Amino acid sequence: MTDNTVDVLAWGALNPSLMANLQQHYRVHNRAEITDLQAWGDTHGAKITAVITSGVFGTEIEVLERLPNLKVVCSFGVGYDAIDIAYLADRGIPVSNTPDVLNNAVAETAMALTLCLTRRISEAERFVRAGAWPTGKFPLGRQLTGKTCGIVGLGKIGKTIALRAAAFEMNIAYYRRGEPYAGIDYTHYNDLAELARAADYLVVIVPGGAGTQHLINREVLQALGPDGLLINVARGSVVDEQALIAALQAKEIAGAALDVFENEPHVPAELMSMDNVVLAPHIGSGTHETRQAMADLVFANLQQFMTDGTLITPVE
Ligand code: 8YV
Repeated sequence: MTDNTVDVLAWGALNPSLMANLQQHYRVHNRAEITDLQAWGDTHGAKITAVITSGVFGTEIEVLERLPNLKVVCSFGVGYDAIDIAYLADRGIPVSNTPDVLNNAVAETAMALTLCLTRRISEAERFVRAGAWPTGKFPLGRQLTGKTCGIVGLGKIGKTIALRAAAFEMNIAYYRRGEPYAGIDYTHYNDLAELARAADYLVVIVPGGAGTQHLINREVLQALGPDGLLINVARGSVVDEQALIAALQAKEIAGAALDVFENEPHVPAELMSMDNVVLAPHIGSGTHETRQAMADLVFANLQQFMTDGTLITPVE
């Protein structure tokens, strides 16, 4: 069923290799180019069989409602909090995501941000580039060895981060409501503030969405304490950004490294102005290797669905 007779709706400028594959095999409509939604929907909506989107683009119900023959949504990214899963489930439309293939890249980003923060790399580079080296010494950083890495969300990416933090000889602790995971030796906390109190560096890698909205609040940040560092590679929504700004301003924590923000791509000016904050533009999975693997998995999901109506990596 891939002879360019099937119409798909791509949600915007998706990965170039994925777009090239889609264009080769399907008639591709681009959400970003639709200005008059009603007119587009009246003419093309009923033709669309598949939506291809990403964890960042998500979906909009007002568009989905104009696609009466939609059969599947394939998303680029592991997180699907921006996709209207409940609405799609009501319509019996399956959704695929891209788990596992990005675990290593996101874990590398978490370690890179942690080291950038502890050894003040961004700040040090600004110091050198500003010509300040000849005028004085750069302040000291913090070590990873022997410190406690508190992981909020010991899923597949969380476990991949834990392995890397353990290689730096860090102690690993994690938060999980209720019982600890069977067969895992890391120190378990079922109280998030207690984990934050025990942790030197708190790494956030839980899924986004209503269930984790502002999980990292002022109380958790105060428990992390004046020598504690926050690293967020999850979703901006998981951290109460205003509480974080207040905690940083009051020196209730020592610093933060953030790959994700509540209102991406907009970053609050307060965070921009702080030297003890490392900022990245949602690059968690952003390596050539991983983005290619994600693009391939999105396309493979779509192809398999068109062939036999099943998905390789369905969102359960
Ligand atoms: C983005 C991510 O989806 O996988 C996720 O959940 O946050 C990222 O990989 C990706 O950057 C979308 O372009």
